[in-house]
Amino acid sequence: MAMAAGPSSYLRAEEALATFRNAMRRLAGHVHVVTTCLNGERGGLTATAVCSLTAQPPRILACINLSGRSYRMIAESRVMAVNVLGAEHEALARRFATASGADPFDGGERWTQAATGAPLLELAQASFDCTVDQMLMTGTHAIVIGEIRHISHRDTGTPLLYVNGEFRGAGPLDLPFAASASEQASR
Ligand SMILES: Cc1cc2nc3c(=O)[nH]c(=O)nc-3n(C[C@H](O)[C@H](O)[C@H](O)COP(=O)(O)O)c2cc1C
Repeated sequence: MAMAAGPSSYLRAEEALATFRNAMRRLAGHVHVVTTCLNGERGGLTATAVCSLTAQPPRILACINLSGRSYRMIAESRVMAVNVLGAEHEALARRFATASGADPFDGGERWTQAATGAPLLELAQASFDCTVDQMLMTGTHAIVIGEIRHISHRDTGTPLLYVNGEFRGAGPLDLPFAASASEQASR
């Protein structure tokens, strides 16, 4: 027989959610803007839930909330670009995390268009232009697996992180991110 959820189970669920959120605040995440393009219209959102998946074949994943505009555009266009932000991009990250109705691309940064049509941030730490390989639905989010079509990256810079509810530059990491031996060999 199904039992109605009583006040104590409701409290337990609230507690579990608070514990989840508090624990997740401890994870430092790199900040990205995931962009897309549908019928000539640009879309994008700030996202930390991005992960390298496989090098061969080249795949990257992003977890995107199903209720957002960007998800609807990615699902229809089947294209996305992952732009990895640097410490100087905090204002840009805030803009792409706010559904204010204003165009978040309208902030003075320079954007180009990838082969897929998705917008690429010109001074991103790295950009991955993708077509959608698969989408796995789980709860409120889709895990969008991108098949990487093109990669560009810078050799210097400080990554933008998000930890404990705050944006942080990664500190003195302004290293020359040297290309690996195999990358150098293929140049
Ligand atoms: C630091 C930070 C990280 C975020 N990470 C994600 C994420 O990984 N996935 C996601 O769906 N939303 C994430 N968001 C929320 C979206 O950026 C925000 O809801 C955005 O307005 C959605 O835009 P859209 O309606 O165009 O999809 C994040 C927000 C912040 C501030």
